[in-house]
Amino acid sequence: MTDRPGQHERPWWRDAVIYQIYPRSFADSDGDGVGDLRGITDRLDHIASLGVDAIWLSPIFASPMADFGYDVSDYCSVDPVFGSEADLDELIAGVHERGMRLLLDWVPNHTSDQHPWFEASRRSRTDPKRDWYVWRDPAPDGGPPTGWTAAIRRVPAWTFDEQTGQYYLHLFLPEQPDLNWANPEVEAAMHDTLRYWLDRGVDGFRADVVHLIGKGTDLPDLDERQARHPLIEIDPPYAHELLRRIRALLEGYDHQPMMVGEVYLLGDGQTVTYLGNDDELHLTFDFRALHSPWEAAAIRSVIERSQREFAAPHWPTWVLSNHDKPRTRSLCGSTDRARAAAVMSLTMRATPFLYAGDELGLADADIAPENWIDPAGRDGCRAPIPWTPEDGHGWGPDPWLPFPPDADVLAASEQVDDPASMLALYRRLLQMRRASPALRAGDLELLDIGGADVVAYRRSHADEVLEVAVNFGDAPVELPLNGDLVVSSVHDRSPGAFDGIIGAHEAIVVRPGGESAPHESHR
Ligand code: NOJ
Repeated sequence: MTDRPGQHERPWWRDAVIYQIYPRSFADSDGDGVGDLRGITDRLDHIASLGVDAIWLSPIFASPMADFGYDVSDYCSVDPVFGSEADLDELIAGVHERGMRLLLDWVPNHTSDQHPWFEASRRSRTDPKRDWYVWRDPAPDGGPPTGWTAAIRRVPAWTFDEQTGQYYLHLFLPEQPDLNWANPEVEAAMHDTLRYWLDRGVDGFRADVVHLIGKGTDLPDLDERQARHPLIEIDPPYAHELLRRIRALLEGYDHQPMMVGEVYLLGDGQTVTYLGNDDELHLTFDFRALHSPWEAAAIRSVIERSQREFAAPHWPTWVLSNHDKPRTRSLCGSTDRARAAAVMSLTMRATPFLYAGDELGLADADIAPENWIDPAGRDGCRAPIPWTPEDGHGWGPDPWLPFPPDADVLAASEQVDDPASMLALYRRLLQMRRASPALRAGDLELLDIGGADVVAYRRSHADEVLEVAVNFGDAPVELPLNGDLVVSSVHDRSPGAFDGIIGAHEAIVVRPGGESAPHESHR
């Protein structure tokens, strides 16, 4: 393992860059067309050579796969499609040998309807596990108890159970009944699942829609508009005490396990409250950039709000891509823009989360709706990663989804020795970040330069200062920055003194210097 910081040093996760793997789509070791744990272990050198600090694996637990693993039927076992527990132990060891950490995806808000807890709960109204889920009598007209809509398939969030004559709540699919965290037995059982993996050596968790565990027994009152999107509207007070107890559990371990929460709230000032007084989540995702158009004004505004809300002692995250949303390359609309986005992500005052495959510049696979196999149509960003250029790209003959466009030229093996590749850019950026206290830990100040198409900011820490500019526009822009060009998103731009021009869709990092540096007086 890398050095464990002492009490007064920054915790590891603030300095980390975290790499998300969607295991079905990453690498297929047994040729069945679905990615697996051994596939990941086989590719650990690719990940380590990128220079990331930790890996987050989307769910690998036993699951009927109605939501591809986000419907868990046993939190303490590995689904056979991904391999065995021995494979996971091997992966954990391989990750640690390379100085990285491993986070698992913990799904606390709901289980699978095939989890033995739910099977017991639905058996009768008097079953001891009845109250482990959220059961309610029908409304007076016989319909669902509230008008809430589920986040997947947009069906009612309640399903009627004939056998016991009540409805159960599922904020996602009917196959994903919500647990009742107001019942202390549920809390204790879920704490046990955390201990199980921490004892096996994992370094923490990404916690799925974790704000929703605080719904309480008196379900929140939502108006008609809110009821259409309970996922992003429920911001319940009870989550905080539950998170404080989870944090205490994590702190009982001396290897600094970390929990990053998927708090799927998009309103200003909302997610930061889930950090509490540094006694709840360690980090919370901020999805506002992911939900913004790739335009200067929108992104500048996200940075401004995120930096204000997550000012010290808080610390933000930065997310441009994940397994639920279009990839960065698709979000931004071109490879040049995706290269500029990479510079932005890796120079942000935040813990950046990178989605595996973005380092190859992959776009979403083009899959017609009639061929979607995901109930919410998120197939495109889950296309398998091409490792080699020939047909099959390192996968079995029948991969579970089609490959992304240009899989032959974008295959990892094609990029690895090409200094002009997206992969080479990511490596360079990660190396730069690792070597720079200003980029890892420094303050961020937005700079008002370059006009409407440019987002620029200064990162500074003790004696080190770096200035970053991203041009979102189609035309070159003159920039009043002086100093050395450290990195450009454009490959053939020579390093050396910055000539004062940023190209269309280019991003640059400049180390200020020289007598005429325009920002000298502010330092
Ligand atoms: C958020 C996850 O990212 C998504 O993939 C999943 O469908 C829902 N939570 C439900 O678990």
